[in-house]
Amino acid sequence: MLYTVALTIAGCFLGFCSAQNASSTYSQPNVPTGTPVPGNYAGPLRPQVHFSPPQGFMNDPNGMFRDAEGTYHLYYQYNPTANVAGNQHWGHATSRDLYNWTNQAIAIFPGGPTEGIFSGSAVIDWNNTSGFFPDQNNGVVAIYTVNTPERQTQDIAYSYDNGFSFTKYEKNPVIPSDSTQFRDPKVIWHEPTSRWVMVVAYPIDFEIGIFSSPNLIDWTPESNVSRIGLTGLQYECPNLVEMRVDGGEDGDTHWVLLISINPGAPLGGSITEYFIGDFNGTHFVPLDATTRFTDFAKDNYAGQFFYGIGADQDQISINWASNWQYTNDVPTAGKEIGDGFRSAMSVARGHYLKELPRQGLALISYPLDIVSVVESELARNDSLGNSTVFVDYSNVQSGALYFEANITGLTDSASLQGAINFKFLSSASGESISGGTYVSGDVWLDRGRTNGFSNPYFNDKFSQAGIYREELGEWRISGIIDRSIIEIFLNDGELSASSVFFPNSPLDMMVLTVSGINETAIANVGVWSLRAVWEEKGDVNGTVLGNVTTT
Ligand SMILES: *[C@@H]1O[C@H](CO)[C@@H](O)[C@H](O)[C@H]1NC(C)=O
Ligand SMILES: *[C@@H]1O[C@H](CO)[C@@H](O)[C@H](O)[C@H]1NC(C)=O
Ligand SMILES: *[C@@H]1O[C@H](CO)[C@@H](O)[C@H](O)[C@H]1NC(C)=O
Ligand SMILES: *[C@@H]1O[C@H](CO)[C@@H](O)[C@H](O)[C@H]1NC(C)=O
Ligand SMILES: *[C@@H]1O[C@H](CO)[C@@H](O)[C@H](O)[C@H]1NC(C)=O
Ligand SMILES: *[C@@H]1O[C@H](CO)[C@@H](O)[C@H](O)[C@H]1NC(C)=O
Ligand SMILES: *[C@@H]1O[C@H](CO)[C@@H](O)[C@H](O)[C@H]1NC(C)=O
Ligand SMILES: *[C@@H]1O[C@H](CO)[C@@H](O)[C@H](O)[C@H]1NC(C)=O
Ligand SMILES: *[C@@H]1O[C@H](CO)[C@@H](O)[C@H](O)[C@H]1NC(C)=O
Ligand SMILES: *[C@@H]1O[C@H](CO)[C@@H](O)[C@H](O)[C@H]1NC(C)=O
Ligand SMILES: *[C@@H]1O[C@H](CO)[C@@H](O)[C@H](O)[C@H]1NC(C)=O
Ligand SMILES: *[C@@H]1O[C@H](CO)[C@@H](O)[C@H](O)[C@H]1NC(C)=O
Repeated sequence: MLYTVALTIAGCFLGFCSAQNASSTYSQPNVPTGTPVPGNYAGPLRPQVHFSPPQGFMNDPNGMFRDAEGTYHLYYQYNPTANVAGNQHWGHATSRDLYNWTNQAIAIFPGGPTEGIFSGSAVIDWNNTSGFFPDQNNGVVAIYTVNTPERQTQDIAYSYDNGFSFTKYEKNPVIPSDSTQFRDPKVIWHEPTSRWVMVVAYPIDFEIGIFSSPNLIDWTPESNVSRIGLTGLQYECPNLVEMRVDGGEDGDTHWVLLISINPGAPLGGSITEYFIGDFNGTHFVPLDATTRFTDFAKDNYAGQFFYGIGADQDQISINWASNWQYTNDVPTAGKEIGDGFRSAMSVARGHYLKELPRQGLALISYPLDIVSVVESELARNDSLGNSTVFVDYSNVQSGALYFEANITGLTDSASLQGAINFKFLSSASGESISGGTYVSGDVWLDRGRTNGFSNPYFNDKFSQAGIYREELGEWRISGIIDRSIIEIFLNDGELSASSVFFPNSPLDMMVLTVSGINETAIANVGVWSLRAVWEEKGDVNGTVLGNVTTT
């Protein structure tokens, strides 16, 4: 969660300040309680398979957990009263498949006009360790930062109804502090020590605190991870997650500590780095001194992992697809609340660790189960060779596509050559987004040929050193483009990039070109349209109401 003095909203917002004063909930008259905020999800920049808020401003994902029925809960930093950051609430949405989201009522409100409910996490207290849940084993506890002009403290709230509504703990805070720089608690259950473990940022001290607790209420500081990797000017939103290692021994896992940095990323603004290591319940020890990044573009920040996914399964994250350098200015919203929205989340990513030939262990990030929102196949060729596929998708309602291109069948390193390039164009304006692989497998992305947004920090081009998979004689690229956001994945997620872009006219033509590949290589390509998941939910006026049938 971003913290600057300028963004801490002091006093009443937009002139509204009559508090309802029920169970320490401060609710402004233009912010609905008990019913979702409505929003219009049509519009040329509104993503259709990515989550974005109904209106207003969204940043970090929060509180993510999968409940006993398999429903995923996503909370998020939400300003329901303006199109810029501030006035933080916890917005809420649920989904069965991580693409088709139902907007729910705002879950956690600030306790007063100068308070913000900043980022945090949620757990299911199966064993009633907290004592909040006399008659159930599916109680939800949210752990989050309360921000005031004087301090940031760690507070908790509990939910009897599976995370739809929360009661703040009467003896908050559970971790007091006099610092204005102490935030973003992420809590997990650590089975070997039978305790809850929290990682939390001391942003300007460049420390990640590790705390433990038997009951989510009494917390003991255990250790700090200090000045690790790139510091930038602040550490934020730490995550600690155990992951399986692909190709390792059966049941082999390592722990991954992720830290978001803002400002101070090499490309400017916000970025997420991670460290692979081991964790014994009190101390995290990295395996090596390497700083690794989750993404090679600049719209992937503050990602959070779902609570309650076993270490034998692929872990799942959702990431904020924006950057603090320009997020308050992007053209998806106007000045007034109700006019558009700001920020989308990445699609849900599946994750595991894998030993790569050159880099060593790396976090693999792939788009989870995109097939669940595939509408139809627009192009397919299993022997493209050095050739080009053109796809006119002007009649695809969502304006969203998924594509794959695989070069396989190569026998030795002398044959690993050639490129796969893609371009998405506007037939009306000629604006485009392009990218692909290049000599030796490097991967690139160019969003500079779109004209709907101009900002000195809005970098045009991104690239990363990729590598052809010599041992397999292949390389692959895939991607999702969705009106104003593109995510690309090299070699099933060995590298990935998330980038927002803002054309004046919708992109509606795709050109996919394979060139210079060895005569023995096989090129398989496919392009699919994706469903207009959000627009399909709209009423006659395009308004998505969300879950209004609350009981
Ligand atoms: C709520 O009411 C209590 C008791 O009347 C008062 O002390 C408190 O300041 C009020 N809180 C807000 C946010 O108005
Ligand atoms: C609940 O209790 C069981 C049995 O003692 C234990 O194995 C498990 O780790 C506990 N889980 C949580 C979340 O408390
Ligand atoms: C949960 O804990 C509370 C407080 O210790 C206790 O009153 C209640 O009986 C417990 N419920 C269960 C199901 O264990
Ligand atoms: C961790 O760092 C913070 C900020 O520098 C400090 O206040 C705290 O005492 C440290 N905790 C431990 C366990 O070392
Ligand atoms: C974890 O390892 C550290 C040393 O890295 C040690 O001091 C600590 O006691 C260990 N904790 C547990 C719970 O084993
Ligand atoms: C695949 O591409 C090749 C080369 O352009 C072309 O000759 C062939 O007809 C295409 N196959 C299909 C099924 O379109
Ligand atoms: C294609 O690959 C074969 C087998 O590795 C190699 O002998 C040949 O030189 C390559 N062709 C070109 C044009 O590089
Ligand atoms: C592709 O182009 C390269 C370089 O021009 C050539 O060597 C190769 O034979 C071509 N591959 C196929 C499959 O036609
Ligand atoms: C590309 O390769 C992946 C395996 O990595 C496979 O699942 C997919 O079907 C292939 N795509 C095409 C278009 O052949
Ligand atoms: C999303 O879910 C709703 C009902 O929960 C269903 O009517 C709709 O068809 C689903 N949309 C997609 C794209 O799966
Ligand atoms: C749609 O918008 C029109 C014009 O603003 C309004 O009269 C009508 O009630 C709206 N319909 C719904 C279902 O909200
Ligand atoms: C709607 O919200 C209520 C809680 O207010 C919840 O019990 C119910 O499951 C939700 N329904 C859907 C479809 O999300």
